[in-house]
Amino acid sequence: MSASQKAIKGLAQYPSLKGKRIFITGGGTGIGEALVSAFAEQGALVAFVDIATEASEALCARLAAAGFPAPLFRHCDIRDIGLLQATMAAMAKEIGDFDVLVNNAANDTRHAVEDVSVEFWDNSIAINQRPLFFTCQAVLAGMKKKGGGSIINFSSISWHIANGGYPAYVTAKSAVIGLTRGLARELGPHNIRVNTVTPGWVITERQNN
Ligand SMILES: NC(=O)c1ccc[n+]([C@@H]2O[C@H](COP(=O)([O-])OP(=O)(O)OC[C@H]3O[C@@H](n4cnc5c(N)ncnc54)[C@H](O)[C@@H]3O)[C@@H](O)[C@H]2O)c1
Repeated sequence: MSASQKAIKGLAQYPSLKGKRIFITGGGTGIGEALVSAFAEQGALVAFVDIATEASEALCARLAAAGFPAPLFRHCDIRDIGLLQATMAAMAKEIGDFDVLVNNAANDTRHAVEDVSVEFWDNSIAINQRPLFFTCQAVLAGMKKKGGGSIINFSSISWHIANGGYPAYVTAKSAVIGLTRGLARELGPHNIRVNTVTPGWVITERQNN
């Protein structure tokens, strides 16, 4: 059973989420897939980006067939900030300004210290760190217009527990906390909450392989 099929079964209802506009990065598989499903099950309108086109399209079809609001999916590699900004603007135009932003997409490919090149390092930061700021920037005007919003940034327990095996990933994931705290202070007066979610080990399809 996929994460979305599990999520659809028997969650509590949160009526305040009905009709809310949600934007999620990496919503096609793994935890992101469960997030897309859970928000759709609450009656929220979800827009998400991913590079896993087949899985993302199948997820949208599954949720629509189950009678939930069909999520809006666009293929977008979040390393391309210009494309990400343009995609978010187009999706907000289609469904309305976002109430909730979830920065979920990441890549935790393991790497040995000796093997890390400048290109590898930059690529890891370009997925796991850089987009999180620009998605926050992109939702800001809409959330201010709406009188508030919620931003959720995914970190990881990995660096808290001093895990080895992926130094570029843990560097980016620890920076998520700094971004969250700095923005929370700055955006709080606009009624925009900024929080970090720090998962432990979650056995997604990818972690299983
Ligand atoms: N699963 C865990 O054990 C665990 C533990 C700690 C933290 N987390 C965090 O939770 C979040 C979700 O993790 P997950 O395990 O579901 O990850 P995952 O690898 O299973 O899924 C990530 C999703 O992001 C997408 N993605 C990857 N690179 C992309 C790119 N360049 N552009 C657009 N989309 C891209 C993938 O296609 C995939 O759908 C991540 O931020 C991760 O760091 C996960």
